[in-house]
Amino acid sequence: MQNTLMKRPRRLRTNALIRQLVRENTLSVGDLIQPVFIEENITSPKEIAALPGIHRIPESAIRQEIDALYAQGIRYVMPFGISHNKDQCGSDTWNPDGLLCRMIRQIKDAQPEMIVIPDICFCEYTTHGHCGVVSEQDVHNDLTVDNLVKQCIAAAQAGADMLAPSAMMDGQIGAIRRGLDEAGFTQVGILAHAIKFASAFYGPFRSAVECTLHGTRETYQADPCNGRQALIEARLDEEEGADILMVKPGTPYLDVLRNLREHTDLPLAAYQVSGEYAMLKHAAQAGLLDEKQAVLETMMGFKRAGAIMIVTYFAHQIAQWLTESASID
Ligand code: PBG
Repeated sequence: MQNTLMKRPRRLRTNALIRQLVRENTLSVGDLIQPVFIEENITSPKEIAALPGIHRIPESAIRQEIDALYAQGIRYVMPFGISHNKDQCGSDTWNPDGLLCRMIRQIKDAQPEMIVIPDICFCEYTTHGHCGVVSEQDVHNDLTVDNLVKQCIAAAQAGADMLAPSAMMDGQIGAIRRGLDEAGFTQVGILAHAIKFASAFYGPFRSAVECTLHGTRETYQADPCNGRQALIEARLDEEEGADILMVKPGTPYLDVLRNLREHTDLPLAAYQVSGEYAMLKHAAQAGLLDEKQAVLETMMGFKRAGAIMIVTYFAHQIAQWLTESASID
């Protein structure tokens, strides 16, 4: 009876060293992109109630924040602006002295080696909260794309290393690529939100950036019922010149990530959005989850599914955990 089992998978789980030897995925600080919220016209950081531990910082605190992240080993940041200069189309985003360009310049000034990957969109800069130009009750695709190109060129001029367009307009990647190339920014990459779903998990983000949305984003963001549509979106972005493809949100869409992994050779990214952070954080604060273990487990989910980089509000905290322990056990 004792020797009849030929296969004993538990052999490879005998002790920590054996487990480490057969580990299929690992996580390092170099895999992580930290979103940073920067608000204009404030003088001290404000904690975001919906996102415990995350602050909206004033421009005067950018240097300190970036230095602290850099010291923790973070090398990739995604700045989001909280604008007090909103209009119908978000024109502040392509003003060289507007918030987006100022944030990029100040981050690069603080740490020239920090790779700056701004979110490219309009919702934080428009009075109606939509991701583009509203015309006849809907967001006008081609007019918005024209503005995205202007925003991208301004961001590249300000020193952005890579751009992360998230407006979900048709043809945005191709237009941005052409615009950047014509302006001489052939080396500035595009981390495309290949597929961004119309998700309830963005709720805390919208309160964080004070974006009051009039209407719905369902005419441009993807329907959560659809998985195959992601392949169409991703294929278009790849053909149009994307360098990296991202899926957003993260955990509810691991199947989409896995599907993309099997259909493209481009690097893939996952965005663990504000609602995912809030769920984990609030559950941990209520004593219901071991925060470190639960967060690292979500990271491994992204890795297994095929992402090699993760945008997460936990990045600085994970960096801290990783320096405390050499590996995840
Ligand atoms: C829009 C944008 C959104 C997020 C980042 N940029 C979502 C939206 O309001 O549609 C969400 C990020 C998050 O929830 O963490 N450009």
